[in-house]
Amino acid sequence: MKTLGYEEAIGRRLYTPAQIAKAIERLAAQIAKDHARQPLVLLGVLKGALCLCADLSRALAGEADGPSEIMVDYLCLQRYGRSAGGGSPRLLMDHSVPIAEASVVVVEDIADNGRSLEFLQRLLAERRPASLRTCVLFDKRARREVGVPLDYVGLAVPDSFVIGYGLDYKELYRNLPYLAELREN
Ligand code: IMP
Ligand code: MG
Repeated sequence: MKTLGYEEAIGRRLYTPAQIAKAIERLAAQIAKDHARQPLVLLGVLKGALCLCADLSRALAGEADGPSEIMVDYLCLQRYGRSAGGGSPRLLMDHSVPIAEASVVVVEDIADNGRSLEFLQRLLAERRPASLRTCVLFDKRARREVGVPLDYVGLAVPDSFVIGYGLDYKELYRNLPYLAELREN
């Protein structure tokens, strides 16, 4: 079977940079409203949330009546693959900002089967934050296997493998400014 080249593997475009930016503005407005005049900790989930966390944190800075202060931190979850019974998520790098008694928003690129977020919500709840909410930019609803509460949801995506805006295929395509389907072959 022929392997597609880098450009050839970029399939149908799903969301333009402008559509993504608009969705992030919406998410920032909702998060700002829920955390007005309170300190907020944004916890980005690497590596997929690298673009989202950077843009969302800056969009929040533009909100007039938003959080009184914002700390941005990251943690890193291991990619566990999409094969059947692909195992459970593993923490590769923990955040360093303390979250006990803090208002926390977890920032994830996409909710797929939901296991990463389930894992994180359980792990972070043990650290006794004052509040723990979850923000995802993309929602692949059709593939959800576990019910996880999502407080802020950006854009719906179909049941296909997507790349760009932080999302990768074999570590490639994260830097595409738009979201596209991967053309598999
Ligand atoms: P979960 O299946 O909801 O646990 O998602 C786990 C992680 O897999 C997400 O945070 C993404 O980083 C990654 N992922 C899920 N779906 C896709 C996709 O379509 N493209 C690229 N990465 C994905
Ligand atoms: Mg991710």
